[in-house]
Amino acid sequence: MEEFNVGVVGAGYVGLVTGACLAHVGHRVRCVDKNEARVAELAEGRVPIYEPGLEELVARGRKRLSFSTDLPGAVRDSDVLFIAVDTPPGEGGSADLSSVGAVARSVGRALAEAERERAREKPLVVVNKSTVPVGSGDYVSMLVREGAQEVDGGNVPYRVVSNPEFLREGSAVYDSLFPDRIVLGAEKRDALDTMRALYQPIVEQSFPTQLDPRPRDAVPFVTTDLASAEMIKYAANAFLATKISFINEMAALCELVGADVTNVATGIGLDDRIGARFLNAGIGWGGSCFPKDVAALRAVAREYGHEPALLDATVSVNERQRKAVIQKLQRDLRTLKGKRVALLGLAFKPNTDDLREAPSLEIARLVNSLGARVVGYDPVAGKGAAAMLPDLKVVFDPYEALAGAHAAVVVTEWEEVRSLDPEKAASLMEDPKLLVDGRNVLDPAAALDAGLLYRGFGRG
Ligand SMILES: NC(=O)c1ccc[n+]([C@@H]2O[C@H](COP(=O)([O-])OP(=O)(O)OC[C@H]3O[C@@H](n4cnc5c(N)ncnc54)[C@H](O)[C@@H]3O)[C@@H](O)[C@H]2O)c1
Repeated sequence: MEEFNVGVVGAGYVGLVTGACLAHVGHRVRCVDKNEARVAELAEGRVPIYEPGLEELVARGRKRLSFSTDLPGAVRDSDVLFIAVDTPPGEGGSADLSSVGAVARSVGRALAEAERERAREKPLVVVNKSTVPVGSGDYVSMLVREGAQEVDGGNVPYRVVSNPEFLREGSAVYDSLFPDRIVLGAEKRDALDTMRALYQPIVEQSFPTQLDPRPRDAVPFVTTDLASAEMIKYAANAFLATKISFINEMAALCELVGADVTNVATGIGLDDRIGARFLNAGIGWGGSCFPKDVAALRAVAREYGHEPALLDATVSVNERQRKAVIQKLQRDLRTLKGKRVALLGLAFKPNTDDLREAPSLEIARLVNSLGARVVGYDPVAGKGAAAMLPDLKVVFDPYEALAGAHAAVVVTEWEEVRSLDPEKAASLMEDPKLLVDGRNVLDPAAALDAGLLYRGFGRG
């Protein structure tokens, strides 16, 4: 295998995992972040985010993995430089490209300086891994060029490639080493060849690892133009969000007609054309990607005078699911004033500490504004949630959250929540011992037998 010098700018969920995995398969990687505290922590061997398997991978990759705040140094020494910085929602939902733009301009300046010192030979391959709207490849290219011109107006050799990321928080390491596909968009063939060689150990699954010793097929490598690669990322997330909103629409109908959406999902999911995943009805999608990516795609549509009717509906169904939690609480508690409500799970999904756009935050705010006291449990994200919501009491044991609660809401299906003992829960809770299962993961019959007032989503 050909060994590359790789720079990764942005040592967050995507950048750090990408860097650690590329080091694991044999490349020399330098992760660069502007956050000095984060870089110092990483340099001391501490991993600032919770992601299963990541700490171990970073520790094992020490010889080939380094951390720094020095972007020009990474530009000078890298064959391939990934941009993996944040692209939060900006005005009107469109993606805020200020971090990407700042990096691109600095890359241009650093390239021009390296060129002056004759420190580089081949063109630098600049890879957009951040999720960015169509046209961002050209935008980054323009900013690199402008950055270089600020230094000496000279031509600098570089290529821009789009390489959208599909990892899921909670299984990010696994997804990066054993991906469903790798998507690459570029206008120049040589850049694609470099990327193919870089990813060869992953595409061929030829790297030695104890992480998943099962033999695997080659990973599909999809090459296309820049715009299509950028669209693939948005289309994938918009489709998944729509699939969840679809089953939530069915759940609302199931409640009206007396059907059980979990059985409906099983029945339709066995159809290969539909597939069983992403058909779990409940309080809907959140997190750092779906809300912002769907919003950005809707903003792109409107930029072109197109009304994205389906995407609009996907979002409004999702907003309805949060309100449905409050309605379920109100139906059985009547007034929320003076009541205690436990939120079981706070992270936007299990196995992560990420709270960006977590449904728990909105539900906690709504419940609190209606006069109830909210106590939240999460095995990992508790501290972060407490810092964000001063009115939220955070505990680290699910039964402590349930003690004295009139109602509990399953918000995040952590294993600790799925395996809740209904008898113990009922013995600790106050009447009416309402359990709103926002993820349809608990056994309704066992809950009812234990004396809990069970309410799922779309379950008759
Ligand atoms: N988190 C996910 O599950 C996921 C999945 C697929 C794609 N993405 C996309 O990947 C991108 C990164 O997401 P993330 O969740 O890793 O973000 P993050 O916020 O966890 O990390 C971003 C990092 O970039 C650093 N940064 C910002 N500006 C910088 C600069 N000018 N120079 C150096 N470092 C800088 C920040 O300090 C931070 O550490 C986003 O576009 C996101 O949409 C995320």
